[in-house]
Amino acid sequence: MASSAGRLDRLWQRGREFLGTDYAIMGGAMSWISERHLVAAISNAGGFGVIACGSMEPARLRAEIIATQEQTKRPFGVNLITMHPDLDALIDVCGQTHVSHIVLAGGLPSAAAIKRAKDTGAKVVCFAPALVLAKKLVRSGVDALVIEGAEAGGHIGPVATSVLAQEILPVMAEQLPIFVAGGIGRGEAIVSYLEMGAAGVQLGTRFVCASECIAHPNFKQSFIRAAARDAVPTTQVDPVFPVIPVRALYNQGSKRFIEFQHDIIRRYRAGELEQKEAQLEIEHYWAGALKRAVIDGDVETGSVMAGQSVGLVTKVQPCAEILSELLDQALGALASRSGLA
Ligand SMILES: Cc1cc2nc3c(=O)[nH]c(=O)nc-3n(C[C@H](O)[C@H](O)[C@H](O)COP(=O)(O)O)c2cc1C
Repeated sequence: MASSAGRLDRLWQRGREFLGTDYAIMGGAMSWISERHLVAAISNAGGFGVIACGSMEPARLRAEIIATQEQTKRPFGVNLITMHPDLDALIDVCGQTHVSHIVLAGGLPSAAAIKRAKDTGAKVVCFAPALVLAKKLVRSGVDALVIEGAEAGGHIGPVATSVLAQEILPVMAEQLPIFVAGGIGRGEAIVSYLEMGAAGVQLGTRFVCASECIAHPNFKQSFIRAAARDAVPTTQVDPVFPVIPVRALYNQGSKRFIEFQHDIIRRYRAGELEQKEAQLEIEHYWAGALKRAVIDGDVETGSVMAGQSVGLVTKVQPCAEILSELLDQALGALASRSGLA
């Protein structure tokens, strides 16, 4: 195991240096639940927690950052959604509270937003959904990239993690640290992406059932019961009315969403609704649905966002245990590669 440990150190050294952590494992920001408790627990256990700013306003974000700093002296990041109306003010809050890493998510950030974030002194991480965009982001001065595939929980792109990794890592990995996300639930997978050139990984789904995570017990139970195939993207019934794809556990809410779209489209065709109104109705269907599931525990009609790795979540356990399992699996994989197992 000793030489496996040395090998792992070398494989993810760049990621560890970039994050300032023991392990190059980011706990991907998850709206409502990536708050002080989960974030501090991941960072204290040697990973890298990330606060999900989601729809927080600047004062609330400031309070959350300060509360997290009180619970951990280790580095953590803040995830900001680029289309937030107060993005500039949120970036400024990160600067005033000396946040070391800002993750810009939810759409391609403008060059101005990247510059503002960098000017705070923070390292700036962005999501690259394709090679051309990865190159563009590097030109805009970002310090690291996350490439997240369609296996992930929450809002997703169309391309699988394995394909994005093959498309982007060989071309870009030498230029800047790249973290791979989506569908990673075990250490063996972490090693394989590191061997392809990734600096580290980002996991969300695997941390939902952390004992330190404030997700409602019903939400955690749904994760423990679910198989990979239960985590599906939202269904779109008509190409005229696009639906933003979100991967979540299929439930009554998902079923009703299909009926709801059919009903709205019928009313549009009957001339009862303008196209714009109909589109807005469809977009509003899921408003507040993640909070309803993850905080209030309504896992029937709420949105139980989960990645396909949900099938690998089997129990509630502390973050330290999750990370040490991942580490053992990674070391085991390296040992067996060199015939040491
Ligand atoms: C319940 C849930 C909520 C999420 N919310 C956000 C979010 O607010 N912002 C974001 O950038 N990513 C969000 N994500 C994505 C995660 O940060 C992470 O990238 C993803 O979960 C990694 O893939 P995995 O689920 O296969 O581990 C969310 C994921 C889940 C499961």
